[in-house]
Amino acid sequence: MADHVTVIESVKLDDANDAIILLDQTKLPNKKEFLQLKTVDDVWDAIYQLKVRGAPAIGIAAAYGIYIVTKNSTASDFEAFYQEFKKAKEKLASSRPTAVNLFWALDRMEARLMKEKEATISEIIRALKNEANLIKKEDQEVCEAIGRHALEVLEPGWGILTHCNAGTIATAKYGTALAPIYLGEEKGYDFKVFADETRPLLQGARLTAWELNEAGVDVTLICDNMASIVMSQKKIQAVLVGCDRVAANGDAANKIGTSGVAILAKHYGIPVYVCAPMSTIDLNTETGNDIEIELRPEEEIKTKWYSESMAPEQVKTYNPAFDVTDHTLITGIITEKGIVSPSYKENLAKLFD
Ligand code: MRU
Repeated sequence: MADHVTVIESVKLDDANDAIILLDQTKLPNKKEFLQLKTVDDVWDAIYQLKVRGAPAIGIAAAYGIYIVTKNSTASDFEAFYQEFKKAKEKLASSRPTAVNLFWALDRMEARLMKEKEATISEIIRALKNEANLIKKEDQEVCEAIGRHALEVLEPGWGILTHCNAGTIATAKYGTALAPIYLGEEKGYDFKVFADETRPLLQGARLTAWELNEAGVDVTLICDNMASIVMSQKKIQAVLVGCDRVAANGDAANKIGTSGVAILAKHYGIPVYVCAPMSTIDLNTETGNDIEIELRPEEEIKTKWYSESMAPEQVKTYNPAFDVTDHTLITGIITEKGIVSPSYKENLAKLFD
């Protein structure tokens, strides 16, 4: 299925070397460089620096991180092992605040640990490895299912606008918003994808345009401020985006700029689909106002991608990494269980019944 996804795995376990092998996404599209992560600080730094990014991939990296840093534990009893586990968990949980998948994966690792309370330390470590592997395996299946469901509402030949990167490298495979693109490609849907460049860190230009291009998909890169003209010219029939956290009322936090795209799409009468695994839906967060929006350093706006500063040194910056798309702007939330339509409060809750 979907042989078009030829792009390399972004997060892999190298058990023999007690390491996570990570595709350094900050180096794309110019270099395919792999890092070896061995310590909790390595994993924290990789997540914070966006070497691994995208909600599901962050969760997978954190799960493997927990396993890697606890596998050589010398703890002699459960309590001592649990203290080490908790220290690593708390550290990783402090890396980025918005994507709920990070906390979801860490909690899932803890739940597995608790199930093994009576087991030996080596059995517990084996169980943690199995759980991390399972999180990754399930994510691939979940993404494929999201892709299949999304195809129910898309038609061959459509122009699809996407923002940021919710592709194969942001997940175990296929991506969320890009899964239907890959699955559709297999079926000859021949989508025309428009990728917003996604300032300030250019995930659309560096990652989405790169991975779709590698896979032979028809992709056109546009600057963020071009979405309106492209929509007005009827080049876009649907907007597909990923998500970092869906609140109980359907408000969805995703990469900064997503809400602007959704507002434009409403103006032009274009449907907006948020592609989100169940692990991204957080019923404990009531509305988008309750989602913590990560603030990132000013160098990302002023200097990061430039050989010279692109702004006066003293100028203040404001660099929120995400924004919240109001649920009223979302046509449907596409999960592995199917497409959720409004009213989201009722229908998201039903999904978990
Ligand atoms: O800051 P990033 O690059 O981690 O932001 C990623 C996004 O906003 C993605 O759309 C989201 O995490 C979904 S990835 C399947």
